[in-house]
Amino acid sequence: MSTPDLPATWFERIDTSSDELFYQTPRLVQHIDDITIEALTAFYRTRLAAGTTILDLMSSWVSHLPDEVRYASVTGLGMNAEELAQNPRLDERCVHDLNRDPELPFADARFDAVVNAVSVQYLTQPLHVFASVARTLKPGGLSIVAMSHRCFPTKAIRVFHGAGGVQRLEIVARYHELVGGFDMIEKLDCSPPYGDPLWVVAARRGDV
Ligand SMILES: C[S@@+](CC[C@H](N)C(=O)[O-])C[C@H]1O[C@@H](n2cnc3c(N)ncnc32)[C@H](O)[C@@H]1O
Repeated sequence: MSTPDLPATWFERIDTSSDELFYQTPRLVQHIDDITIEALTAFYRTRLAAGTTILDLMSSWVSHLPDEVRYASVTGLGMNAEELAQNPRLDERCVHDLNRDPELPFADARFDAVVNAVSVQYLTQPLHVFASVARTLKPGGLSIVAMSHRCFPTKAIRVFHGAGGVQRLEIVARYHELVGGFDMIEKLDCSPPYGDPLWVVAARRGDV
């Protein structure tokens, strides 16, 4: 998918080598503070109903979903098989490089929600990915993109370098607007008083 409304320079990154190389070693670490993880889990608790079907996009060994909630299924898509194997919340695991192939390998209208935690800055073809998120969501389904301020700088695209919370929210809201199919696009600052910030874009897949 082309990006006629967005400058090509947004999507440049320092390390242009294959993501397979960068992610071949498992990183069993947390990328945000415990208190910020709690804030993200609390947000999921308010938006993701029990019994629904979830895709954790750009997943690893943790999904930050509330322990006590039983979903119909949780599918994790990421780059490292060992990280995904260690994730106890996942019912299904998929290793897939979204920068090599930005189309999600899932059927239309399969998920009630697609969540993406602290990883959107690594997508080099985000419009194609979010169009595919819209395709794989059920009507009325939710896309939730959570962001903070830490990153692997060589792998993050240029537009996120130095971007503050307001700009990050605008960028990701714009992704959802440009691909179409989403309504009720919310830009939320869910940051706890101390710890890493937490900015969330939540968008509803419109009825089709
Ligand atoms: C900072 S970690 C975040 C992991 C997890 N979502 C979390 O909240 O801890 C970035 C994740 O993005 C995934 N990722 C990075 N580039 C990717 C790509 N090209 N395609 C699919 N996933 C990718 C990696 O597998 C990695 O797990």
